[in-house]
Amino acid sequence: MADRPIDERLTASQDERVVDALSRVSNFMSEVTDIRRLLTLIMEETERVMNSDASACMLYDGATDEMYFEVTTGEKADEVKSIRLKRGQGFGGICLAEERTLIVNNVQQDQRHDSRADAKSQFVTRNLVATPMRHRGEMIGVLEVLNKKGRRDYDDGDAQILRILADQAAIAIVNARLVEHNIQRERLAAIGVAVSGVAHHLKNLIATMKPSLPLLRQAAEKQNVRLMETILPILERGASRMEQSVQEMLAYSKEREPELERTDLNRLVREILEESRPRADQAMVDLREEFDSSIGEPYLDKHRLHDAILNIVSNAIEAQMGSGKESYVAARTRIGRQGGVFVIEIEDNGPGIDEVTLSKIFQPFFSTKGSKGTGLGLAVAQKVAEENGGSLTAQSVVGRGTTFTFRLPIIESLPERKAATEED
Ligand SMILES: Nc1ncnc2c1ncn2[C@@H]1O[C@H](COP(=O)(O)OP(=O)(O)OP(=O)(O)O)[C@@H](O)[C@H]1O
Ligand SMILES: [Mg+2]
Repeated sequence: MADRPIDERLTASQDERVVDALSRVSNFMSEVTDIRRLLTLIMEETERVMNSDASACMLYDGATDEMYFEVTTGEKADEVKSIRLKRGQGFGGICLAEERTLIVNNVQQDQRHDSRADAKSQFVTRNLVATPMRHRGEMIGVLEVLNKKGRRDYDDGDAQILRILADQAAIAIVNARLVEHNIQRERLAAIGVAVSGVAHHLKNLIATMKPSLPLLRQAAEKQNVRLMETILPILERGASRMEQSVQEMLAYSKEREPELERTDLNRLVREILEESRPRADQAMVDLREEFDSSIGEPYLDKHRLHDAILNIVSNAIEAQMGSGKESYVAARTRIGRQGGVFVIEIEDNGPGIDEVTLSKIFQPFFSTKGSKGTGLGLAVAQKVAEENGGSLTAQSVVGRGTTFTFRLPIIESLPERKAATEED
């Protein structure tokens, strides 16, 4: 029976069942991304439409030219996974070798039957249909249904239905592999960018510290305390820069729940300006505050927001270092025009940022400051804003200055503590 041409026609009721099954399969394909889960759903649908007790999906391993069981249904399905079929071995291997559908209604008497899967799964295969899954001429695997219910035989209609579903399964597998491949590639690319950023930055920091080491050795040998005292601060600064960079990298890489507490926002911003004053004086930059006094004490992630705003104020001061003109950095707080958010703006009248640079400033490790900058400040600040349900954006005009704007939701009250709601 397996060797005569298969009648391609389906009866009207078979047609309906197949169309039904296909529409469900196409739903699964758009909703389920996990390939094993997706194959299981396709196989369950196949079993249902083909009135069968079990099914198996084998995949082709091009490296060894073998078939292996990827998903099987039934109670002891997992036991079967270690079995591999060579080209021509068992019905799976024959499908691979001959690239055609097999209908076998007397499996136990058939010489070609490889009984290992039955033995391992303690399943007795009475009859089966197996068909190759191909995509654009490439062998993907074999889909197999086993034991038609009611002790009936499989026929050409069954083979036809299985082929239609096998085409769908092949597409699902190819798509899932493509997605997996792309994710992998993106992940590798992201790691590559991050690692080269870290390496480059640390290399710069080490380069500033390294020349001091032989000098320090000489100073120690000559017991030259004065020289030692000049060199040590250089090394201390380098070490603390490295420590700060590593902390920023960790802050950037970790997902973190905001720790909200009632905070006097204007006071927080004023404290940041005070902390920045020595450097602002050095750079001859005037610090200005324009606070909306109605802003009160919103809930916010005080410590993280402090660091984020401090970095932006520091950037604004650094950008104007030695510019000679009447430089200022203005910190503004206000309620958003549409309500529901509060806004913190840090404006400077420094050199501004050109369009190409502006598109990169929030990228981790982007910095124009050489060894003095990690390039994580704005990336972390933006992450903090987003973790708090808000945003951080930048507008700039070359020659006129730059404004960074935080928009954060006004949170009136904290969500009830979890334990309390669960008790209710
Ligand atoms: N106010 C500003 N005016 C001009 N350029 C700015 C301003 N703020 C940021 N930039 C540019 O954006 C880049 C990225 O800033 P970011 O704070 O992320 O890193 P950084 O200051 O270089 O290093 P660090 O990680 O130590 O903060 C800066 O190197 C600088 O080129
Ligand atoms: Mg910075």
